[in-house]
Amino acid sequence: MTGVGVGPGDPELLTLKAMRVLREADVVFAPTTALDKPSRAERVVREAVGVEVRRLFFALDDTGGLTEARTTAWDEAARIVLELFTSGARRVAFATLGDPNVYSTFAYLARTVADREPRVAVETVPGITAMQDLAARVVLPLAEGGEPLTLLPAVAPDVRRALDAVRAALSGPGTVVVYKGGRRLDELVDAVERAGRADTAVLGTDLGLPTEWIGPLTSHPPGSAAPYFTTLIAPPPRGQRGGAL
Ligand SMILES: C[S@@+](CC[C@H](N)C(=O)[O-])C[C@H]1O[C@@H](n2cnc3c(N)ncnc32)[C@H](O)[C@@H]1O
Repeated sequence: MTGVGVGPGDPELLTLKAMRVLREADVVFAPTTALDKPSRAERVVREAVGVEVRRLFFALDDTGGLTEARTTAWDEAARIVLELFTSGARRVAFATLGDPNVYSTFAYLARTVADREPRVAVETVPGITAMQDLAARVVLPLAEGGEPLTLLPAVAPDVRRALDAVRAALSGPGTVVVYKGGRRLDELVDAVERAGRADTAVLGTDLGLPTEWIGPLTSHPPGSAAPYFTTLIAPPPRGQRGGAL
């Protein structure tokens, strides 16, 4: 079973390897929160590769940690995948947004499948992450010289601690990237302003989709909600060229 990263939304951001693995697969799965609706990953696969996609339900919208809805969905998805292996399918691909090893449902599915049937080989094909796409679009180096690069979720393990971690990273020397922060935008704007990074921080929402929005963090309408697919990049103050070397 191969987890295939399909990038954040723009079908042109699939790698050649991702396209080959998806084309050669016996079955291509994509996660969805509703079986009657295509997910973003499914849309990307259909547009870029044109193959059929089977939907697997995951409780992606669930909050509150390790909920029963989540674990039940992982178990059921693993059962469906393993049924295919039993019936002879060997090349099973799972399309996932961005990269399969960065905050992806694929990790939970792969672990469940491997625990139940160790003979199933698990592989991954890297994908372009949302932070890479946003950095590319605004031509913003994510890291220079000795700068660290920190990626943080704005929600886990709980919102207060997550925002504390963001504030701590913003007071450090490197770029801070925040995922899953759409519902916490006002707090994030405040944290970025207090850290003196408001002039350079950028926001990207729904990257690669018709509803895409990219701009300076401070130009996002205050008080307005941002979607779940929101990425924030706050680079550190950079002085002279090569100053972090
Ligand atoms: C569950 S994580 C998936 C990350 C993904 N595997 C990656 O490698 O980028 C979801 C978060 O990734 C970010 N993200 C993923 N796709 C995005 C997009 N098209 N536009 C903006 N942010 C996106 C958002 O921060 C979102 O809350």
